[in-house]
Amino acid sequence: MREKESLKQEILDAYQFRHATKEFDPDKKITDEDFRFILETGRLSPSSFGFEPWRFVVVQNTELREKIKNSSWGAYSKLPEASHFVIILARTKQDTIYNSEYLRDHLLNVSHFPEEHLDGFLSRVEEFQRDDFNLLDDDRHIYDWACKQTYLALGNMMTAAAQIGIDSCPIEGFNIEKMNQLLDAEGLLEDGHFGISVMVAFGYRVKEPRPKTRRPFDDVVKWVE
Ligand SMILES: Cc1cc2nc3c(=O)[nH]c(=O)nc-3n(C[C@H](O)[C@H](O)[C@H](O)COP(=O)(O)O)c2cc1C
Repeated sequence: MREKESLKQEILDAYQFRHATKEFDPDKKITDEDFRFILETGRLSPSSFGFEPWRFVVVQNTELREKIKNSSWGAYSKLPEASHFVIILARTKQDTIYNSEYLRDHLLNVSHFPEEHLDGFLSRVEEFQRDDFNLLDDDRHIYDWACKQTYLALGNMMTAAAQIGIDSCPIEGFNIEKMNQLLDAEGLLEDGHFGISVMVAFGYRVKEPRPKTRRPFDDVVKWVE
């Protein structure tokens, strides 16, 4: 019992430790092993139907970092100092629509879905995409749906990092269209199969953050009994 209590405290301590780090120490680098651990928690993250509509692009190239820095007001002070910088891409409609080649291949070869049930399952996915979530009437809707999944990986990676004492900052401070143009020119969007979702910098803080502010527990939690 005491073990569980101390584990809970350890997890909460990590949530308190994590903050959107504004300035990273340029002299402190995350080890390869630790960074792989962080990426692994992204890879193991859940996604709707298990489609894993993401790619984690780790940008360690100084020139590309400089270009991103100049196109992203939210990343400006984090680059080039952050130890590791990740662009999280989301798969676009051509891969996430119910009848895409990507989904068929993913379900058969990654999820090991029984082939005889595949078409029935994909019909359910079509119904979900068309009627339940209205994802098919606008390309942006289905793209945003994939982006939503990537934020689960983002959250998990930042929390896992915090649990081993590594800082991070999520970054949405950029123009989507311009950033996609930049990444496309770098050949990172694979002929329109991917688009940018969000970015995240990892490293070690230079100074302590100001105390965390959050709305009170009873304000954000509502019980219906
Ligand atoms: C999706 C997302 C995007 C964000 N984008 C930026 C950003 O571009 N630049 C930045 O400095 N902080 C960014 N933040 C950090 C938030 O401002 C920060 O998480 C929030 O104020 C709560 O503070 P805390 O994370 O330090 O507890 C972002 C946070 C999230 C979740």
